[in-house]
Amino acid sequence: MNYHQILENIYMDIRPYAQVGKQADYIPALASVDPDQFGICINTLQGDEYALGQADTRFSIQSISKVFSLAYCMSILGDNIWLRMDKEPSGTAFNSLIQLELEKGYPRNPFINAGAIVMSDILLSHLSHPREDYIAFIREISHNDTINYNDVVVRSEESQGYLNAAIANLLKYYHNIDNDIADVLHFYFLTCSVEMSCKELSQAFLAFANHRQSFDYHGVSLTSSQVKRINAIMQTCGFYDEAGEFSYLVGLPGKSGVGGGIAAIYPSRYSVAVWSPRLNEKGNSVMGMKALELLTTETEESIF
Ligand code: DON
Repeated sequence: MNYHQILENIYMDIRPYAQVGKQADYIPALASVDPDQFGICINTLQGDEYALGQADTRFSIQSISKVFSLAYCMSILGDNIWLRMDKEPSGTAFNSLIQLELEKGYPRNPFINAGAIVMSDILLSHLSHPREDYIAFIREISHNDTINYNDVVVRSEESQGYLNAAIANLLKYYHNIDNDIADVLHFYFLTCSVEMSCKELSQAFLAFANHRQSFDYHGVSLTSSQVKRINAIMQTCGFYDEAGEFSYLVGLPGKSGVGGGIAAIYPSRYSVAVWSPRLNEKGNSVMGMKALELLTTETEESIF
């Protein structure tokens, strides 16, 4: 497969979408990111890397971190994590409160904010050094020890995090948070603030594409069946109320973030990360989604 040529074609074909959508501005620090950027990187299981555009530029991974949190929590709790949250698609926005109230503080899945806030609570309870351990895991799975949090983004999100605070309070009311709410929210915002490039994200997600290989990074150890199940949840819940659309157009398990990044995998074949800050109304990258749709169309490779 000539992925290099395919990426060149995609780069041309997405140009008409360059001005569509706008970057997230409910987190003040993200509003100042130059919206006119695009990067993409593919890593194959054979060890090849194909990159184009601003694939070395780091951006805020935001909700893509929810995949790392799920891997960490599953390695600690195994299937007991499902005592704290479900694994069903939500069909609602990532920060919706409605369903959480109706379902009495039991989040629909780990990839909406409510699920990720509960996962932050789990990690705070089980890790002796949560801040250090979490980033050490991401550095090891990415083979890059310079990846870090952005404390400016943390403070920025904390200053405006009223909806997430409401979610955390509702969870606490329903006894689904053990730690202090402020500590849980701080750690949740920290996980979202991690900055990575497309090359680094794609490298990290190769571990999920390669589910037949042993998964053991900084003590986060999963069986191949557990990795497959994380991929299944990416397929059904990775794009909130646009999970069906992503499955329909792209057909790969993946996870998006409001920083404009999307990481996806083709099991046993490749991982891919794409980034462009302009988002659609569901909070997913416009050019990122289009690029991945073109990728699976041009390669005629899809898991379906
Ligand atoms: O909690 C928030 O709102 C952000 N830190 C993360 C949201 C996000 O990335 C949703 N993704 N599309």
